[in-house]
Parts: sequence; C-alpha cells; structure tokens
Amino acid sequence: MSQIQLKKREHWSSTLLFVFATAGSAVGLGNIWKFPYIMGENGGAAFVLVYLISILVIALPIMIAEIMLGRRGQANPVSAVGNLVAESKASGLWRIIGWMGLFTGLIILSYYSVVAGWILAFEWRALFGGLANIPVDEAGQKFDLLIAAPKEMLLWHSIFMGLCVLVVARGVKRGIELAAKLLMPALLFMLFGLMIYGMKYAAFDQAWQFMFDFDLNKITLPVVVTAVGHAFFTLSLGMGAVMVYGSYLNKSTSLLQVSIWVIIADTVIAIVAGLVIFPLVFQMNLEPAQGPGLIFVTLPQAFAQMSGGAVWGAIFFTLLLCAAWTSAISILEPIVAWATERFAWSRVKAAVLIGLLIWLLGIVTVFSFNDWAFSFEFLGAQKNSGWFDIFDLLTSSILLPLGGILIALFAGWVMKDSARREELAMSDGLYCIWRFLVRYVSPIAVSIVLFYQLLVPLFD
Ligand code: TRP
Repeated sequence: MSQIQLKKREHWSSTLLFVFATAGSAVGLGNIWKFPYIMGENGGAAFVLVYLISILVIALPIMIAEIMLGRRGQANPVSAVGNLVAESKASGLWRIIGWMGLFTGLIILSYYSVVAGWILAFEWRALFGGLANIPVDEAGQKFDLLIAAPKEMLLWHSIFMGLCVLVVARGVKRGIELAAKLLMPALLFMLFGLMIYGMKYAAFDQAWQFMFDFDLNKITLPVVVTAVGHAFFTLSLGMGAVMVYGSYLNKSTSLLQVSIWVIIADTVIAIVAGLVIFPLVFQMNLEPAQGPGLIFVTLPQAFAQMSGGAVWGAIFFTLLLCAAWTSAISILEPIVAWATERFAWSRVKAAVLIGLLIWLLGIVTVFSFNDWAFSFEFLGAQKNSGWFDIFDLLTSSILLPLGGILIALFAGWVMKDSARREELAMSDGLYCIWRFLVRYVSPIAVSIVLFYQLLVPLFD
C-alpha cells in the first residue's frame, strides 16, 4: 500500500466508543430538527414506514460498505479509496468518491453550522430571559427577528465553528472520542427525561396518533424520494464521515453489528424527538408546523405559555446542541484527516485553516435569509432561502445519494471478493445478502430516486 501506512494512525479506545462516536455523527439536527418536520409534511406514519424500509434495505448495506472502505483503506477518504484502488487494480477515477466527499462536507458543514448557531441563539434566550412568560405572538417572532439579523447569526455561527475546531484539533482519542463519551449520554438523558415528562400531557396520545396513524395514500413518489434522501443524511452516509471513523476502527470489530447499533440509536432518537416535540405542540393548541419553523417558531410558542417553559427550553436547546456538535465534528474530520495526511500539517493547523474556510462559506448561508434571499421552486415545493436551500438540496438530494451509489458500486463490484470477505467476516448467507443489496438493490433504488428528482422538474 502507499505512503500513508507509514504513519501510525490513532484508533478508538474500544468498539463501544466507535459506536458512540458514529451514533454521535448520525444523531444530529437531522434527527431532532429535520425528521419531525419532514415527517409532519409527508404523511406522518406513512413516511416513517417508507423511511424504515429505506434504512434497512438501502442505508444499512451502504453503511457497512462505507465503514469497510475506511477500515480497509486505513486513511482519509481520498487516500483510503486510493489504497483500495491500488489493491484491486482498479481505475484511479474511483478516487472521485473521496474528493466528492470532501467537497460535500465543506458545503454541509457551512450551513449546518449556521443552523447550529440558531440553537446557541435560542439557548442564550432560554438561559438569560426572553423565552418564557411572553405573549405567544412575540415568541413566534423571535426566529424571524434572528434570521433578519445577519450580525447576530454570524456571531453564533463563529462560536459554533470554534467549538468544532476545538474538538477536531485534539485528535481522535482526546477530541472526537471524548466529546462523544460526554455528550451522547447527556443527550440521551435529557431526551428521555423530556419525553417522560411530556407523557403527563393529555396531548401525548394525540401526538402518538399524529406520528403513528397511517394512511397508505400518502405514500407518493416525492415521499419516497424525501425518505431515501433523509436516510442518507441522518446516517451521515455518502461523504466519507463514516469512512474516516471506520479507518480508526479495530480489525476485529463486526461491521454488521456496529452498523445495526448505530441505526437503532439513530432511529429511536429521531422518533423520541418527535414524541418530545409534538405533545407540547398539541397541548398548547399549536399547529404542527410544516417546515424548519417547527423547532424555532412553534416550540418557542409552546415554551412561552407553559409552566417551566424556560427550564424546558434550556434543556431542549442544550440537547439539540449536543446532537449538532457531535455531528458537526464528524463532517469536519474527513477533511482535516485529509489535510494532515496530504500536507503533513499538524492537526491544530489543519483544523483551524479548514474551519476558517468553512466559516467563510457559511457567510453565504447567513445572508441567505436576509440581504441575499431569493425564492425558487423545486419538486413543487417553494424555497425561499436562496443559497441555503441550494446548498441543502445539492448535498442531501444530489451529492450524498451520488456518493452512496458510488460507494455501493465500488464496494460491491470493484473490491476483491477476498478483501471484502476478510473485512466483513460474516456467514456465507449474510455475506451474499449484503453483496446482493450493495451490488443491485441500493444503487438501483438510489439512482431511481436521484434521477427522478433531477428529471421530473424538467418536465413539469
Ligand atoms: N447525520 C447528521 C444529522 O442527522 C448530519 C451529518 C453528520 C452528516 N455528518 C454527516 C450528514 C455527513 C451527511 C454527511 O444531523
């Protein structure tokens, strides 16, 4: 293999900590901010069903494949794929998987950090007044006021990027692993605490019904497209985040097992997040908002009226911050790993410089909601936040699925059978099922989704 092998790579202290870190990557704004509202928009339980099927049939095999590429390649996504290309005597073009991943990460983190900045802004309001005991209308306007204030958004975006750089600069064990070890249990504790607390509301049943009563008629093609796209986003697949985490993993760990644990954690947490949010919304006679306003408009309206709203709000935004933080570091890590290995930069230097680059790009998102805002239509949906929407669509609807297809094809067709078998160490039956899924089912399903959404708008 290549020069990268010369440097000794850091490894996770244990398999459990890999699961924590990968679950930390998976569980993020996608679970707590995005999942409940896209579920609300796409037919509640019907969406959940389609989503669960996409997770099992499409995302699980790709997750196993992506971790495998990292562990076998033993390097950052670009060099890892490069090493495997050499091992399989394949075309160097496959390296595009790594390059595209790094590019996708830059874009995702640039807007992810701005949204995470909103969490900090609301956390501040929850802690230092201005969130509870105010008229509902006023609570509902907080978000509009925030996104109309680029300077304030820029401040929180800067702080959040700083937090990410801080962790990644400390490396795998002392940074990423430590963050996951502290933040994930805290997140679980707060989330389940809030859910149990919310069960006392009469509206808990109503929320349950909203989430689990389903209507098959609501399963349309756009719903399937959204579900598959979200499956990728929520599991952090398709851009090398899981790959680079896999490169720090022990040879003896079962990839099937760890992937299943991560998926269970991710799905349970997304559903519990819904069970935390919707009872409050219904209890306070609010509408389950469609769109991103659910967390930042509707929930503050609930906090404003409920007893203990300030405490509730502070806990909620803290847990959201934990989720966003452990995810954001996983988006930064592949790029930083690449820079340290490619240019022999120190971790600190790489984290700071790349953090700075992403911070700069984030400014585009900051202004997407105010000075530079423009509207357009995509798949019949009206998008009002210009570049922010473009970044989101480009990454979650195009680049991540595309990355996923390439990873599946590379793992399924290009890698040597002996290498795959050695990495996966599964029974023959399971191995054949996995190879079938990753060769045919995942790439075909994801391609249909990808091309459908790219082509349909042209014919409308
Ligand atoms: N999975 C995270 C979430 O649900 C976001 C995320 C972290 C991500 N790392 C990623 C998305 C890599 C795509 C690729 O919020």
